[in-house]
Amino acid sequence: MNIAVKIEADAEREAVWTTPLEEINPAKTERFQNDTILPYFERLRQEDPVHFTAESEFGPYWSITRWEDIMTVDTNHEAFSSAEGIGLANREAMAEQEKVMGERRRGGAGFITMDEPDHGPRRKAVSPTLAPGNLAKMSPVVRERAGEILDSLPIGEEFDWVDKVSKELTAMTLATLFDFPFEQRRKLPWWSDMFMNLPGHGPVESWQQKGEAVFECFNAFQELWNQRVNAEPGIDLISMLAHNDATRDMDMNEYQGTVVLLIVGGNDTTRNTISGSIYALNKYPDQYDKLRADPRLVLPMVSETIRWQTPLAHMSRVATRDVEIGGKTIKKGDRVVMWYLSGNRDESVIENPNAFIIDRERPRQHMSFGFGIHRCVGNRVAEMQLTIIWEEILKRFPVITLVGEPVRNYSSFVHGFESMPVIIPARA
Ligand code: HEM
Repeated sequence: MNIAVKIEADAEREAVWTTPLEEINPAKTERFQNDTILPYFERLRQEDPVHFTAESEFGPYWSITRWEDIMTVDTNHEAFSSAEGIGLANREAMAEQEKVMGERRRGGAGFITMDEPDHGPRRKAVSPTLAPGNLAKMSPVVRERAGEILDSLPIGEEFDWVDKVSKELTAMTLATLFDFPFEQRRKLPWWSDMFMNLPGHGPVESWQQKGEAVFECFNAFQELWNQRVNAEPGIDLISMLAHNDATRDMDMNEYQGTVVLLIVGGNDTTRNTISGSIYALNKYPDQYDKLRADPRLVLPMVSETIRWQTPLAHMSRVATRDVEIGGKTIKKGDRVVMWYLSGNRDESVIENPNAFIIDRERPRQHMSFGFGIHRCVGNRVAEMQLTIIWEEILKRFPVITLVGEPVRNYSSFVHGFESMPVIIPARA
């Protein structure tokens, strides 16, 4: 952590229990970067679980922090709409983006920001590719490619785990799902970073550069569509979209939205789970020992990482009518944020929630994939690739050592790491 981030983190920790409740703006992005957000959620769960922030850089919004209340919102898609966006948008940044990129920012965000009846058929068009049956066909290729990536890692010298492993593996799986040209696979996490970051963060230097990346991505996927639509139907995602009744006539705007959704949905999330597992196993060495002693714990360890890390800190909705939750009235038109990161730490549902415990009784009991009609359609892909990578890691490297604090993302949405220094001391 650099000095400025550390000073701010110390001040934040002091302020957690003394800041007047009405002044708490949980989405303040710095707290996610300096890792001081969890105590704020603890306080809100105790003192004000349905919390209103009247003024912020994101406008006014409600924060839902307890497990049960989050479930109530997530499973009621009639009262809580996704159509006006599922993240909190920084208003100034959005105005700037509109000015600079208006022309090129076509496409929207795909079916994740649609309500019924539009959402269902589009989701159905991609779900067979992402279902266990199809994944079983792809998994040997993913395993072989994962092995190659791991075999190329340096031994005995420091490297960035995020860049060399987390991004590389997610790029590889997504390229396999899209049947995207394999040698260009690193473009996928690059575009995802370009979509998700504001200038000055991640690799994004300027709005201009961001705009060019969006344009390049849309052109590349337009070309893939043109190839697939004229070929025999295949098992990859683009071919499925080009041939499925519900999607083959969609306009290019909508196709671009779907592509953005799949690239972003499949990228940051899995990437940050891979990084999160290395971080957590190093912070909890007794759990790392348990995993080495019994590799059958890989799958529950993956689920525990998905809970503990919570790669997407929140999803948000807009109320379509007045709704009462926890004794407060959420008005029609209000923005509501479901903090999965807080729900996953709710001590009334998860025992000892701050601890990373890989052999919990119910490892899949977490809210990181959401609930209801938008529940992550890629959850099996995520579990498949994370399990494969860990099985392959354990065969090769008994220890992967974290050798410094990671740099965290500047985002209250994507909860993860920009870089993470590690050393692999030796091969098995
Ligand atoms: C650990 C990894 C992952 C996490 C934590 C995660 C999390 C989520 C969450 C929280 C949602 C929204 C739920 C809601 O609004 O209620 C979602 C939706 C979605 N995810 Fe994932 N995701 C992961 C991996 C993936 C992967 C690998 C893909 C694609 C290859 C993917 C594609 C999608 C899509 C397309 C949606 C929209 C579903 C809909 O609107 O019906 N995700 N994901």
